[in-house]
Amino acid sequence: MTPNPSPQADAPPPPRHVAIIMDGNGRWAKARGLPRVAGHQRGVDALRGVVEAGQEMKIDFLTLYAFSSENWKRPPTEVDDLMGLLRLYLRRELRDLHRNGVRIRFIGEWRRLAVDIVKLIEDAESTTAQNYGLTLVIAVNYGSHREIVEATKRIAAAVADGAMAVGDIDEEVFATHLHTDGIPDPDLVIRTSGEQRLSNFLLWQAGYAELVFMDVLWPDFNKTSLEQAIDEFHHRERRYGATSG
Ligand code: FPP
Repeated sequence: MTPNPSPQADAPPPPRHVAIIMDGNGRWAKARGLPRVAGHQRGVDALRGVVEAGQEMKIDFLTLYAFSSENWKRPPTEVDDLMGLLRLYLRRELRDLHRNGVRIRFIGEWRRLAVDIVKLIEDAESTTAQNYGLTLVIAVNYGSHREIVEATKRIAAAVADGAMAVGDIDEEVFATHLHTDGIPDPDLVIRTSGEQRLSNFLLWQAGYAELVFMDVLWPDFNKTSLEQAIDEFHHRERRYGATSG
């Protein structure tokens, strides 16, 4: 007798790459009369939960926007708090993430951060480089405009040196000069907190992504929220510029 198929047997596969703009930590804290840092702390808890959910759901790539190149405009104490949380996260979680087969990649100009953080990031990337579970991509000091300008400069330099001809430049070549080289484009971009914009996040890479904006504040985001976003994704029809049917 053949066993009953599990209820999930016919479920469509999850998107391969989910990217998230984690927004609303400040408002979550304000609504509770707490300092903003408390919202960011709870934001790290939500982040931990979503990484676990991503692993369970067999998502291949999960990209999280942790600190934008524009976030330096925040008060220095808040910047320090966010850097402190990043430090703590890497120190405390690397072992477990590694044990669970998570591969860690950073995008953004993270080499410009404090030396000890740079060291932690290098360590996280090299320790987990051979893992083949979920790839967790953390965007820190990241901004798409700058990423695209820097890619353009490097391509222009290669042309000036004679290492590349103008005719060689195409979308594929351009993409290999972005921070996300080797990472597939996101299929789904989620932004929490009700705001509906991309805020300089993966502007090239998200060209054909489905965008899902959710009213939940980031600290309240959990596995169910992720499932809701993915359900919405599955109801969208991705046509990549072609006609339907
Ligand atoms: C947006 O909320 C959130 C951020 C700017 C930072 C996100 C960071 C974390 C979740 C924690 C740190 C990350 C790691 C990897 C340890 P907001 O402050 O803009 O909220 P608001 O719009 O309600 O003020």
